[in-house]
Amino acid sequence: MTTKSSLHETRHEASSPGAPLDLPRRPRRLRRSPAIRSLVRETRLSPDMFIYPLFVCTGEGQRREVRSMPGVFQLSVDEVVREAAAAKAEGVPGVLLFGLPDEKDPIGSGAYDPEAPVQSAVRALKREVPGLLVVTDVCLCEYTSHGHCGILVDEEIENDATVGQLVRSALSHAAAGADIVAPSDMMDGRVGAIRSALDQGGFTQTAIMSYAAKYCSAFYGPFRDAADSAPAFGDRRSHQMDPCNVEEALREVELDIEEGADIVMVKPAMTYLDVIARVKAEFGLPTAAYHVSGEYAMLKAAARNGWLDEPRAMMETLTAIRRAGADIIITYYARDAVRAL
Ligand code: PBG
Repeated sequence: MTTKSSLHETRHEASSPGAPLDLPRRPRRLRRSPAIRSLVRETRLSPDMFIYPLFVCTGEGQRREVRSMPGVFQLSVDEVVREAAAAKAEGVPGVLLFGLPDEKDPIGSGAYDPEAPVQSAVRALKREVPGLLVVTDVCLCEYTSHGHCGILVDEEIENDATVGQLVRSALSHAAAGADIVAPSDMMDGRVGAIRSALDQGGFTQTAIMSYAAKYCSAFYGPFRDAADSAPAFGDRRSHQMDPCNVEEALREVELDIEEGADIVMVKPAMTYLDVIARVKAEFGLPTAAYHVSGEYAMLKAAARNGWLDEPRAMMETLTAIRRAGADIIITYYARDAVRAL
């Protein structure tokens, strides 16, 4: 509380030059104009940090909007090239590819078919969109008839047999010309196995971005519409992480770095900002965050109802992910964000 005597003292000190001032602090000085706000801005987004996920299907001229993800499409290879070229022209540096095969089987063998949608799209993008970074998601769930991320034995995912399939898949993406392979399956030991197979196959320059701390999240719901990859029974709790854990995320990240990951990822983003911050602070590796399908869908849904200002909510969200420590942001909003910057 300000008493009479302290007021008197303040006035007294203020009148003697050089004496310490006890004046009210005025942080609003630095918020007065756009120019001063931007002068002192601590977090900036830049176009070169965004990666744009794309879903590749078979056929030609296909552009099918995903019901739960307005503005996101299943695209045939020719349309992927058009979409990626347009994104690149706007300043988006890279894409992340997911595949929608026509046929699925219990062991996900379509994941390493050299003529499958992802492999074909990689070749087409490398040929037709020079300078575009091409990243591929490595997982079996889009390719298995049961929708699980691996080979099942008695309804359990067999870790090591699954890793063998992931290695085949990563090698076929590298052979097609992928710059970065991104294993998203959360099997143990897959990063090391992929790294050594890539090296032995002569793909020493193909980088690995591991989904190192991938949580078992409700926010992947719309993705499973987009990629037709919902499990036919059960869930992904036996391999994806418990949302309650953060120390475990650090152990997962550490293992993937030891096994040869070049970039580590935390996924989802908004509900795991603390995990992003810890991973970046403890390891200092290039750190990616995946702003996933459900995070996108909820902003879209609220915006369509007129409940949120979508451009502002989008930028606030992406800025928060950056402020937490992400160097790379994977988002379905990549084109909109880059256009807005
Ligand atoms: C697995 C994979 C998933 C996502 C990326 N890779 C789905 C899952 O684990 O069930 C989710 C991405 C998103 O929700 O946007 N291949």
